[in-house]
Amino acid sequence: MKDINSVTVIGAGLMGSGIVQVAAQANCKVTMVDTSDAALGNGEKLISTSLKRVARKKFDGDEQQQKAFIDKVLANITLSKSAEQAVSEADLVVEAIVENIDVKRTLFTNLDKVAPEHSIFCSNTSSLPISDIAAATSAARQEKFAGLHFFNPVPAMKLVEIVRTNAVSDDVFQSLQDFTTKVGKTPVSCKDTPGFIVNRLLVPYMFEAFRVLDRKEASIKDIDTAMKLGAGMPMGPFELADFVGLDTMKFIVDGWAKEGKIEPALVQPSKSLDDLVSEGHLGRKSGKGFYDYK
Ligand code: CAA
Ligand code: NAD
Repeated sequence: MKDINSVTVIGAGLMGSGIVQVAAQANCKVTMVDTSDAALGNGEKLISTSLKRVARKKFDGDEQQQKAFIDKVLANITLSKSAEQAVSEADLVVEAIVENIDVKRTLFTNLDKVAPEHSIFCSNTSSLPISDIAAATSAARQEKFAGLHFFNPVPAMKLVEIVRTNAVSDDVFQSLQDFTTKVGKTPVSCKDTPGFIVNRLLVPYMFEAFRVLDRKEASIKDIDTAMKLGAGMPMGPFELADFVGLDTMKFIVDGWAKEGKIEPALVQPSKSLDDLVSEGHLGRKSGKGFYDYK
C-alpha cells in the first residue's frame, strides 16, 4: 500500500483545522476544504494560534527558528472550496464536517466518484456508525473506509481511535496505523460500535453530571471542582462540554437514543443542556454555554 503523503481534510472547524495542522507538521501535503472563505479563514486562524504555541514550546526564546518552523508547516497547507477538486490526488481523505449522517453520506458519494482508486476515506465522526456512512460509497471503497477519530484539542491530545468495520482490509488498517504514528499520536483500534471506546465511556459520564445539575443536587462549579480535584480530570464535565460544543454533545446522545443500541438510562436527555442548545448557547465557540466566555 502507498505511503500516506497527500491528505485532504474536509471541514475547517475545531477538529478539521487541528487534523490539517498535525498532518502538515508531519510533512504531509494537506488541502483544507470548507464551503466558504469565512470558514476557511476561521480554520487558518485556529491553526496559526496553535502553531505559535507549538513553536514557542519547541524553540523556546528563538524567534527565528519559531518563524522558520511555522512557515514550513504553513507551506504544506493549501485551501480549497471544492472538495471534488481537492481529493484528485489524495492518499487519504479525512472528513470533519457537521455531525449529520445525510450530509456526510452525500459528501462521500460525490467524492467516491472523483477520488483516485487508492484513496483511503475516513470520517472523524464522534458517534455515527462508520459502516452507515461508508455504505454511501462503492463496495471497492468500503474496504478503504474507516473511522479516524481524533480528540479535541487535536494538536495536544495524543490518541487516535481507528474504527475498523468488517470490510476494512489489513493493508488499509496498517496504513492508518502508520499515518497515526507519523502525526505523533498513539493509535488504538475498535469495532464500529456506538461511541467507539472513549465516547462510549466519557459521554454517559458527562450526561450524568448534567442530570445531577437538572436534579439540583450540586452546582456546575462544585461538580467541576469535584471531578478535577477528586478524580484527577483535567477539566470538569461542564468545562469539557463547553469545550467540545453543546450541540455536538446533544447530537451524540439524541442519535444514540434513536438508534437504541445503548442502555436507555445512559442516554436520557438533560433539560439544562437542551435549554442551552435551543437558546443558541453552544459553549466556548458561541461565547456562552454552561459558563460565560464573553
Ligand atoms: N494547540 C497546541 N498545543 C496545545 C493546545 C492547542 N490548541 N492546547 C493545549 N496544548 C498543549 C500545551 O502547549 C501543553 O503542552 P505541554 O504539556 O507539552 O507543555 C499541553 O497541551 C497542556 O496545555 P496547557 O498547559 O496550556 O493547558 P492545560 O494543562 O489546561 O491543558 C488541555 C489543556 C490539554 C485542553 C487539558 O485541559 C485537557 O486535556 N482537557 C481535556 C480535553 C479532553 O478531554 N478532550 C477530549 C474531548 S472528547 C473528544 O474530543 C471526542 C469527541 O468526539 C467529542
Ligand atoms: P465545527 O462546527 O467546528 O466544524 C465543522 C466545519 O465543517 C464547519 O467549518 C463547516 O463550515 C464545515 N462544513 C459543514 N458542512 C460541510 C460540507 N458539506 N463541506 C465542507 N465543509 C463543511 O465542528 P467540529 O467540532 O470540528 O466537528 C467536526 C466533526 O468532528 C463532527 O463529526 C464531530 O462529531 C467530530 N468530533 C468533534 C469533536 C469535538 O470535540 N468538537 C471531537 C471529535 C470529533
